[in-house]
Parts: sequence; C-alpha cells; structure tokens
Amino acid sequence: MRIEAIGRHPACIGSLARWHHQEWGALYDDWTLDAATAELAGHATRTSVPTTLLLMDGEDLLGSVSLLVEDAPALQDRGSPWLGSLFVLPEARGRGGGRVLVEAAVAHAAREGVAMLRLFTLWHEDFYASLGWQVEERTSLHGTPVVIMSIRPAQRLAHTGAPPDTAWTTHD
Ligand SMILES: CC(C)(COP(=O)(O)OP(=O)(O)OC[C@H]1O[C@@H](n2cnc3c(N)ncnc32)[C@H](O)[C@@H]1OP(=O)(O)O)[C@@H](O)C(=O)NCCC(=O)NCCS
Repeated sequence: MRIEAIGRHPACIGSLARWHHQEWGALYDDWTLDAATAELAGHATRTSVPTTLLLMDGEDLLGSVSLLVEDAPALQDRGSPWLGSLFVLPEARGRGGGRVLVEAAVAHAAREGVAMLRLFTLWHEDFYASLGWQVEERTSLHGTPVVIMSIRPAQRLAHTGAPPDTAWTTHD
C-alpha cells in the first residue's frame, strides 16, 4: 500500500466521488454526486489545502483522506483546516490502511505548515486517539453527538518520522 496525491490519478475521481457520496451523501441535503465529483476534481489540481490523498495498491484505489478548509459549516468557527472524508473500501479494511491515511494526512499538513489540524467524528474517537489526536470538544451537529479532535502536525511528525512511499507531486 502507498499514498499518492489525487492529482496523479485523475481517473480515480469518479469512483472515489461515488464512494464518498454513498457513505456520507445522506448527511448533507445539498451535497450531490456532481458536487462531490467537482470537489475532488478541484483537489486534483493542487497539493495544498484543500486536497486529497489516495491509498493505492498497485493500480487499485483502496481509500482516501482529505485536508479541507472547512468540513461542516456549523463548526467553521472552531478553526481550519480539517481532516475529513477518511474512507477505506470495505474489503480492504482492518489492514492498517486507515492508520496509514491519517498519518499521511498529518505529515502532509506538517509540511504545509498547518499549526493545528482538526476533525470531527461520530464513532471513531478511540481510533484517532490511538494516533495521537486529542479531544477538544464534545458537541452536537444537526442533533447528532460528535467529538471534535485536534493534533499538532509538526509535533506528530517529529514523533513518528516521515511516512515512507509517499509521492507528493501532482504530475509525473
Ligand atoms: C474508519 C476506517 C477508515 C478505518 O479503516 P481501516 O483500514 O479498517 O483502519 P485500520 O486497519 O488502519 O485500523 C486501525 C486500527 O483502528 C481500529 N479501529 C478501526 N475502527 C475503529 C473504531 N471505530 N474505534 C476504535 N478502533 C477502531 C482497528 O481495529 C485497528 O486496530 P489495530 O491496529 O489495533 O488492529 C474505515 O472503517 C472506513 O472507511 N469506515 C467508513 C468511513 C468512516 O467511518 N470514516 C471515518 C469518519 S470519522
């Protein structure tokens, strides 16, 4: 498994948008498949925030994670940027891909000079805590309890070292 910038694999945008929309589309009324596709196409034009990193195995796409300016509008006063859209294909789960994606996003944020990275989660507090994230706030989003967590990317990178097998350029 390796991490690559989405800009290196524009052919993956359609599949990834469908997976993301299937996973989270019901949560956002106005977030259509076209909107998901357009966001990822935008991410493929840059490696600075907002952008997306892919988890690849050979030519197979296994998952992704995004660094976003804002994840939920109701939480934008908490700061920016956010880690979001962490996704691993169901058949590829439990093999460490989720961890690799989160650590790669944190390392990328460190390289981009992000002082503090945040996320919100409904179900995965323990997973992120095991990767060095700290609980910042427990709140609710549209009536659903969520946990806001944060990490200082430079500190995490100093602790873990740079992840291997990472290709950061958008084009060959
Ligand atoms: C969350 C997700 C990305 C994890 O992907 P994955 O490839 O299975 O993750 P990993 O294999 O790296 O798992 C890492 C560890 O976290 C553990 N873990 C996974 N989900 C967890 C959870 N909800 N709570 C606690 N631990 C969890 C795994 O058991 C594993 O532990 P281990 O290293 O001790 O064996 C994947 O389940 C997914 O795509 N889910 C649907 C989308 C989603 O919920 N995204 C997160 C939004 S906040």
